[in-house]
Amino acid sequence: MMMQNTKAKAKGNISSVFASLGASKSSLEPRFVTLKEEITPEDPDVLQASFDRLLASFGKEKEEIKQKGSAVVPEIHIDDIKNNGGSLPEDVAACVRKRGALVVRGLIDRKEAQDYKTQIKAYINDHRDKMIGYPEDNPQVWELYWTKAQVAARANENFAIASLALNKLWYAHPDTPVDLTKPLTYCDRLRIRQPGDSNFALAEHVDGGSLERWEDPEYRQVYDKILNGRWEDYNPFDATHRINAEMDLYEAPGGCSMFRIFQGWVALSDITPGGGTIRVCPLIKEQTAYYMMKPLLEQHKDQADFMGAWPGRCHDISKEHHSPIVDCMVSIPPVQYGDGVFWHCDQVHAVEPKNEMKTEDSTVLYIPSVPMCQRNSEYLKRQRDAFLNGRTPPDFPGNHCEETIDLRAKENDMTEQEKIGMGLLPFPAVSESEQQKTTYGQRQAMKQHNDILGFQ
Ligand SMILES: [Fe+2]
Repeated sequence: MMMQNTKAKAKGNISSVFASLGASKSSLEPRFVTLKEEITPEDPDVLQASFDRLLASFGKEKEEIKQKGSAVVPEIHIDDIKNNGGSLPEDVAACVRKRGALVVRGLIDRKEAQDYKTQIKAYINDHRDKMIGYPEDNPQVWELYWTKAQVAARANENFAIASLALNKLWYAHPDTPVDLTKPLTYCDRLRIRQPGDSNFALAEHVDGGSLERWEDPEYRQVYDKILNGRWEDYNPFDATHRINAEMDLYEAPGGCSMFRIFQGWVALSDITPGGGTIRVCPLIKEQTAYYMMKPLLEQHKDQADFMGAWPGRCHDISKEHHSPIVDCMVSIPPVQYGDGVFWHCDQVHAVEPKNEMKTEDSTVLYIPSVPMCQRNSEYLKRQRDAFLNGRTPPDFPGNHCEETIDLRAKENDMTEQEKIGMGLLPFPAVSESEQQKTTYGQRQAMKQHNDILGFQ
């Protein structure tokens, strides 16, 4: 059974997570050379040949990416998902499978999104003495989780529709205890990046652990085909071995305890490329194959170095080690108030160095898509306790800024939908015939969820 790191986190801010914001690094132990030996094919030519084919593919794809720029990132309006029965139309779905990311227009009504920002800014202003953020003297990322606006946005019906449509791109073995149709809520921070800000720049990185992708046997199985020299056969959308993968072997200060099938945010500003927005590498299969394979090639095999993967940190992607990935990075297209952006859990992403917009802040609420599975239900229980007490969610630095703020979201003023996602209410019971349409794995996930949250 998977163990979750349940230790309380020290005070701090988002800078503890990222080497590019000043987090420290250490060198790797020699055992990592042995690990390389254990997980690579006996014949080094197998991996090298695969890597050569990968470089050729990058070369081909790069031309289109350079030509189209941000436009390679697919987009769809939420109404088009609804009009298609809650699924992505096949052409968009195929594009997301290739690119890994999606912009969903109109996720939250523009006026509602504007109201959210007004509320959040008032909440910060009214309690400025209690608030912490990064950087400390002029925060752009706030250690703030329980504004009513955040709680409402996370449970927005359209957000659930979009994330369920995206989850349909995924597969899990029918016996795998996960339900991709039952979204849970992960409570993250928010960013209000002021015009001209260049403090909150994040270099290219991957979340969801770093060395764990090679070191944990279950996590490693996700990448089995890549590690065996057949990257073309790798399916980035197979969740079977991700559910119980150990993504945090080193008690990372900023590690996410939930399995985020897609990371995401919702815009509370009109943000153009150059406006301090997110950048992604829009080749999900190739980029993953690249950073997984390269440290294992024969010429790097005797070095205890996984090229930017450090214990307890996210995986840094750099020009030095991963130039084809960095060369293909694109900013996402312009977004408006209420648009959502989703990117695959293995996707290399970065935050533009500066918000170049003259007058507009670059504001987003971080909201990932998280399916129901044991790991996520366990964290939900701890997060629920934090919410009820107004404390910081357990994954984040223990600042507890909102504990004494009366205006924070409370259980009494939440909708049923908000309560279900937060584990305050069970998912509604389904009929016998509906139940029969579910897989064994879905029923297991529901049983675990109800047991963990005390609903039986
Ligand atoms: Fe990230």
